[in-house]
Amino acid sequence: MIYLDNAATSFPKPKEVYREVLYCMENYAANPGRSSHTMAAEASSKIIDTRIELSSLFNIESPFNIIFTSNATEALNIGIKGVLKPGDHVISTVIEHNSVLRPLYYLNKKGVDLSLIDVDSRGYVNIDKLKNKIKKNTRAIVINHASNVLGTIQDIKAIGEIARAAGIIFIVDASQSAGVVNIDFERDNIDMLAIPGHKGLFGPQGTGALCIREGINLEEYNQGGTGSESLLIEQPDILPDKFESGTLNTPGIAGWYEGIKFIKDVGIDKIREHENKLVKYLVEELMKLSYVKIYGGIDYNNRCAVVSLNLDNVDSSEVGNILSDKGIAVRTGYHCAPLIHKIIGTYDTGTVRISPGYFNSYRDIDNIVKGLKDIYENRV
Ligand code: ALA
Repeated sequence: MIYLDNAATSFPKPKEVYREVLYCMENYAANPGRSSHTMAAEASSKIIDTRIELSSLFNIESPFNIIFTSNATEALNIGIKGVLKPGDHVISTVIEHNSVLRPLYYLNKKGVDLSLIDVDSRGYVNIDKLKNKIKKNTRAIVINHASNVLGTIQDIKAIGEIARAAGIIFIVDASQSAGVVNIDFERDNIDMLAIPGHKGLFGPQGTGALCIREGINLEEYNQGGTGSESLLIEQPDILPDKFESGTLNTPGIAGWYEGIKFIKDVGIDKIREHENKLVKYLVEELMKLSYVKIYGGIDYNNRCAVVSLNLDNVDSSEVGNILSDKGIAVRTGYHCAPLIHKIIGTYDTGTVRISPGYFNSYRDIDNIVKGLKDIYENRV
């Protein structure tokens, strides 16, 4: 299989990731933070090491301000619902994924005032427009760092500065950018950063985290056993325990640790450079084909490895199915980001999305271009 669906989940992972998941399951997958025997201590220590690796990757002051979740969606739900109350105002954009839009619509029905600002046809937010939307009761700005439909990378540092100056909580959805684009929690003025483990950070599925700025008072999300303060009938009010009820995904987190180490060893810049080269080559080859419509911009410095397209008069899902029969994996349809399709004119069609990763080669790109040509030329 030629796998070009890394925006959904990265595949393959570095081999150390697979090895550690199995090693953990066979040797130390006891319950972290619950017992004092050596296996439980080893599990706890791997979890702390992973927090430390994440905090150094994203420049987060304390590893304990990182809470493990099962994915970025859960992290976003914890962050968004934890700060917004009826009567608050929140600003977000039409390029968001449903992991942001759905919690926001849910809260909107409960009395949170919601402003979704437009993006241009390349997918960029107009920062002045965003600034103009700020009201007295604006409590949070929620921004998709890199689009899973167009690859657009927003200027989170500039938006973060605006939020900081206005005393507004800045929540960043880094689902497509974490591990591929340099993110600095301090430099970018981020208050909450939601990351998945299983995409650019090369962890297994079922991993994710929310990084929370010290001093942000987040409402608890659920309640349960934390292994700490067991006699207390209320949820402990300390991080990370407040948001980590129930047994953690130790094997997943152990594998994730190796994914983060791999990124640090190779270097984010090198990973981004490789993906950028593949995207540039792909776009250049596709632009030679008059029947391919590519969506979004081609500013390679401000986009990540996601290319959305359609073939003239060929249904996007049919393209995906035929590619799959040819041994090529892509995603088709709406990519769980409904509103951006109104801007790019694909509300009725969806798109074919190609998302190369660090382990793809130029040959993979040649193969998908050939696959698309064959589909168009052999259409009935
Ligand atoms: N949000 C993921 C995607 O874009 C799953 O495919």
